[in-house]
Amino acid sequence: MLQRLLSLFLLMLSLGESTLTGYVSEMNLGGNLFLVNRDFAVSADYVPEDLVLPDVKRTGNTVMMRQEAAHALEQLFAAAKEEQGYTLVAISGYRSYRTQSNIFSRKVDSVGKKAAMLLVAPPGTSEHQLGLAMDIGCQGEIGLESSFGRTQEGAWVAQNCHRFGFIIRYKEEWTDITGYAYEPWHLRYVGKEHAQRIYELDIPLEYYIDELRNAQFALLEEKE
Ligand code: DAL
Ligand code: ZN
Repeated sequence: MLQRLLSLFLLMLSLGESTLTGYVSEMNLGGNLFLVNRDFAVSADYVPEDLVLPDVKRTGNTVMMRQEAAHALEQLFAAAKEEQGYTLVAISGYRSYRTQSNIFSRKVDSVGKKAAMLLVAPPGTSEHQLGLAMDIGCQGEIGLESSFGRTQEGAWVAQNCHRFGFIIRYKEEWTDITGYAYEPWHLRYVGKEHAQRIYELDIPLEYYIDELRNAQFALLEEKE
């Protein structure tokens, strides 16, 4: 397993500075471990090819995800209902470069650029453009507030979303690393194996990818 993860990661590294469009077409390994942040942007014209509308309770139609992630979201929401009786709601999924650009500009206009940078990703640097992120809430908490993290639904999601392949991407204590304020509502799909490991390690995606890289180097050194 580790070997497979490492090969995947090595391939990512070998693609160097190329855009995610390059990663997607060249990798095509079914992996979901793409790192998109202020340092690694996605090209403006990148649109995932397999976007679908998950069959879940939602606030509107702007909740598409890539197929595998959408299916996982359905399972997460169903488990919340079956195991706890909680009703989760999907609020914002795939966002095009243009949509992200509009959201970012509006935020800059309302709170200024410095504050906006903590809250909204500039266009090209949002995981929402990957189709692998979903903002969620629960009945009575659909305003994307940090209070969602203190609800019983939010607490359950934080402790259980990894079982379905999701991670809480922007935890409160990781702001210096991720660059973003606490977002208990922002779920990022990485697949079950990565999510389980990230949950156990309790580290941001940036560090997890570093861990994989270091493990790869250790493996290479062992072979020499
Ligand atoms: N709010 C997150 C960081 C985004 O805009 O992608
Ligand atoms: Zn989000």
